[in-house]
This record gives sequence, C-alpha cells and structure tokens, in this order.
Amino acid sequence: MSHPIQIAPSLLSSDFLRLGDEIREIAKAGADLLHVDVMDGHFVPNLTFGPPIISQVAKVAKELSLELDVHLMIETPECWIERYVEAGAGWLTVHVETSPHLHRTVQQIRAAGAKAGVVLNPSTSESTIDYVLEHCHHVLVMSVNPGFGGQSFITGVLRKVERIAETIVRRGLDTRIEIDGGIAPDTISSAWQAGATVFVAGNAVFGLAGLEARTARIAELRSLCM
Ligand code: DX5
Ligand code: ZN
Repeated sequence: MSHPIQIAPSLLSSDFLRLGDEIREIAKAGADLLHVDVMDGHFVPNLTFGPPIISQVAKVAKELSLELDVHLMIETPECWIERYVEAGAGWLTVHVETSPHLHRTVQQIRAAGAKAGVVLNPSTSESTIDYVLEHCHHVLVMSVNPGFGGQSFITGVLRKVERIAETIVRRGLDTRIEIDGGIAPDTISSAWQAGATVFVAGNAVFGLAGLEARTARIAELRSLCM
C-alpha cells in the first residue's frame, strides 16, 4: 500500500522561546506533522519537554490541523502513555529497547486513542518488531543514535528500512515507515528509495531562518522523494 510523503519537522531544533510562532510558521511552510522529541535523561543523555509543554504545543498545532508525532525516548513508557495522549499526541512512538512487553504497550497506545508506533535504535534488529508489526500504524527507524539533533545520517540503517518495507509488502500490511536523524537534501532520497515515507527533519528545516527558506526546504525535501 502506498502512503503519501510526510515531512515532520522536529521541534527539538526550534527556538524554544518562540514555540507558538515557530509552530505557526512551520505549518505555513508546508509541514505535514510536528515531531516532538521527549527525552528523560536516562534512556538518552538529554532532557526535553513533558506533558505540560506538549499540551500547550498541541493547542497551537490543533488550530493549524497539524498532528503531533510524539517520539518517547523515556524509560518505562507504559507509565506515561495516557498522559501523552491526553496532552495531545496523535502519533505516539515507543522505543523497543525500553519495552519488555512491547505487544502490551502497543495495545495500550491504541486503547488510549493514538496511532501506535515502535522505534528502533540504529543497533536494534528489525526482528524485534516482527510480532507487533501488524498492530503498528508506523515504525520509526533511527538513523542517528537518539538524544540530539544535528547528527550525521547513519547509512547502514537503510538495509533495515528495506527489510521492514519488504516485510510490510509481503504481509500486506498498511504500516508506514518513518525515519529520524540526519534527514537533509543529501540523504532523503536514499531513505525514500529504501521504503520510508515519513521523514523527520530537525536541523534541515528549523536550522534555516524565516518562512521563505523553510518553505523552500520542505518543498525541496518533498521533491527529492521521486
Ligand atoms: C534525535 C531525535 C530527532 C532529532 C532529529 O534523538 O529523535 O528527532 O530532532 O534532528 P536532525 O534532523 O537535526 O538530525
Ligand atoms: Zn525523534
């Protein structure tokens, strides 16, 4: 099944002092989704935002019909699912490495009312999601080690994207493949060719100043998927 190309700018690279304006501008610039990176300082060596800030972000995003794609880089995510859905997560993604009961956690996300996803670190095999794939709205493949924006794309993960894409086709599933980390004009084509259709872009979009530059960059990224 084919899915539309979706560009998901990552709020991590935005100007936190102007969050509302940054969200309004990125929606105008053509973003399809807003990627929100939640880090707990344990699973990854960085700390970002939690439910109170995300619920404020969600209010602005809702006015613009921009869905929130919340990427949880936290330990014991199962203790937090409902809080993030209440805060406004439309897509909610948990790391395989943090979830010993992944099947249960995916069902918990769905029951809470969000589109459920699982995410794989660069060193984690696609075999870990074999038994949950059919329950996932999306699979997120990390193309950097999680924790920071602005890192270099790890080309080795493209093989993993290809294998997941093959499995999705072979099993007739409707799961989307999302890719996160180092997505820029020089890397997006290879990720698209491998089978990804949802592209997180932090620095490549928010690193540029002004509506015009950001609009051009989102259009450029989209045009390279062909
Ligand atoms: C990294 C985050 C990414 C990050 C991507 O842990 O999951 O979403 O913001 O930033 P760029 O696109 O700059 O690599
Ligand atoms: Zn992310």
